[in-house]
Amino acid sequence: MGNEASTPIDDGVRPATLKRRDLESVASYILKKNARRIVVLTGAGISTSAGIPDFRSPDTGIYSNLAHLDLPDPEAVFSINFFRENPVPFYTLARELYPGRYRPTIAHSFITLLHRKDRLLKLFTQNIDCLERAAGVPGDKIIEAHGSFASQHCIDCKSEYPDDLIREAVEKGHVPHCLTPQCNGLVKPDIVFFGEALPADFFSNRELPAEADLCIVMGTSLTVQPFASLPSFCRDETPRVLINMERVGGLGSRADDVLLLGDCDAGVRKLAQALGWLEELEALWEETNPDKEARKRETAPKKTRDEQLHDEVDRLTADIDRALHLSSSHQDRVRGHLAKENDNNKQPTGEQDDKTLRSNAGGSEQGGLGHVYPHLDKKSAL
Ligand code: OAD
Repeated sequence: MGNEASTPIDDGVRPATLKRRDLESVASYILKKNARRIVVLTGAGISTSAGIPDFRSPDTGIYSNLAHLDLPDPEAVFSINFFRENPVPFYTLARELYPGRYRPTIAHSFITLLHRKDRLLKLFTQNIDCLERAAGVPGDKIIEAHGSFASQHCIDCKSEYPDDLIREAVEKGHVPHCLTPQCNGLVKPDIVFFGEALPADFFSNRELPAEADLCIVMGTSLTVQPFASLPSFCRDETPRVLINMERVGGLGSRADDVLLLGDCDAGVRKLAQALGWLEELEALWEETNPDKEARKRETAPKKTRDEQLHDEVDRLTADIDRALHLSSSHQDRVRGHLAKENDNNKQPTGEQDDKTLRSNAGGSEQGGLGHVYPHLDKKSAL
């Protein structure tokens, strides 16, 4: 996949708002039309250059690598029903994903720059790595659509659980249990699992793309609902820019869609350059790297980003495999439980369907939760 300046699509289609369907026209639109209500939609692809694997990339994605393990489905790691039966795979993954280990990417800093220039209306992120905050995007500008590690509760009595204790449990690879006497339920960070409702602020802000004067979608496969529908809320004449390795979610189908297929970091650098902001962007990103040792490591010869991602996801997969074997006695119970769930969930309500996290395309390439949990229905994004 190239990192060309922009990837023209549907030649012959005349844009209504932009001069042309390219990056330079987007930059000129932002500056000359003074776009100040930019909505940014992000996913795991904006963090891969930080060393965090995404979910669905064929070689380096977490789900692709978990596919051969003894899980009902790779997405089961983030399924509330599976978690109830066996929380160990999630906590094994959580140790790797826990905030604080990674530096934001320049794509995160680009969002901060939009905010500093008073042009960011809202960032909707599916990520749980908190790197947007680390890059300096203020909390009131961020909708963490799939929750975050910022708080945690017992999944039974809903009591809060202390931050220091969960951090310690995650670091030691222990599964935390509720402190309320008589309860002892499992504690889970407030990350939205498949089958759970998204946070209220997602629903109170989900119409914002309709007020946007520009929408930038970065680093997401747009396969998980209801997030995947957000770009469709933009008005027809609102330019939408996709910066992603691959074309996703029907973007490119509207006259003012611009595709920038390739790496997010390269894409935001090109956009910043076209805007005359590149130097400022690099300086802002550098602020996230105050550690001289880190700088030295960056100049030292190092593995390619793909090699690092491969190493990371191999290690993760091995850890989860080990955890699964340690807890293999759970598996028969899990399958029995899931079969029972199938019988119980054959008639989902529309309300529940709209509010709960579900896989758009029936889950991963290996089949997905679509057939494990019937209420995680297939639905097209646009
Ligand atoms: P995915 O892994 O589904 O998609 C990541 C997208 O980013 C893919 O289209 C990749 O091609 C692209 N990508 C990867 N690295 C990139 C890079 N450096 N530059 C540009 N593009 C890149 O991740 P999400 O869409 O975020 O839910 O997944 C959505 C949800 O599915 C996640 O929030 C997670 C998962 O189940 C939960 O954990 C609850």
